[in-house]
Amino acid sequence: MSSMEFNRIAGAILLTLIVIKVADIAGDAMGHVTPLAKPAYVLGGDAQAGGEAKPDGAKADAKPAAQPAAIGPLLAAASADQGKSVSRKCTTCHDLQKGGKDKLGPALWGIVGSKIADGSFRFSDSLKKLKGTWDFAALNAFLADPKGYAPGNKMAFAGIKNEKDRAALILYLRSLSDTPIPLP
Ligand code: HEC
Repeated sequence: MSSMEFNRIAGAILLTLIVIKVADIAGDAMGHVTPLAKPAYVLGGDAQAGGEAKPDGAKADAKPAAQPAAIGPLLAAASADQGKSVSRKCTTCHDLQKGGKDKLGPALWGIVGSKIADGSFRFSDSLKKLKGTWDFAALNAFLADPKGYAPGNKMAFAGIKNEKDRAALILYLRSLSDTPIPLP
C-alpha cells in the first residue's frame, strides 16, 4: 500500500467518524420533545352530551354523532298529503301499497312501528344488526342520512335533508297501516 493510498483510506475513515459524531450531536439537539400538558385532541369526546335523552339505549351506538332535531313537534305540524308527494322519491324502489311486493327495496306497508329488517327481503347485515323497531326517531335519523345511520346498507339513496319534508313523509308512512301507531 502506498502512503498516498493509506492517507486516502485514513481520510475516508476519519470523515465517516466525523459525520457520525455530528449526526449524533444533531440528533441529541432534536431529540428532546416537551410533552404536551393536555392531549391535543380527544377521540370520541362528549359531543353528544346535552343531546336528547335516548330512551332506547340499545340503539345509541348505531346512531351517527349528529342527531336530527326531535321529530315530535315536526310531526305535529306536518301534513300527510305533503308526505305523499315526498314519497314519490321512494316508490322507484319501494312498494307502499297494502300487500305490496318487494322491489329493489323491501315493501313498506306498515313500516312505522315494525321490526327493522324483518320480512322476505334479503336485507344487508348492516340493516339487520340495527335491531329494534322503526319508531319515529329511528326513521327520522335513517331517512336523514341512510348511509350514516347504517353504514354499508344497500339503500342507494342520499336521504331527505329537509326536516319538514322528512316529518311529512314519516307521517304519511305511518298512515300506511291498518293500525297506525300513536304519534309521539
Ligand atoms: C334506490 C332505491 C331506493 C330508494 C330510492 C329508497 N330506498 Fe329504502 N331501501 C332500499 C333498499 C335496497 C333497502 C334495503 C337496504 C339493506 O338491506 O341494506 C331499503 C330499506 C329501507 C327501509 C328499511 C326497511 C325495513 O324493513 O327495515 C326503509 C324504512 C326505507 N328503505 C325507506 C325508504 C324511504 C321512506 C324512501 C324514500 C324517501 C326510500 N327508502 C328510498 C332502496 C331504496
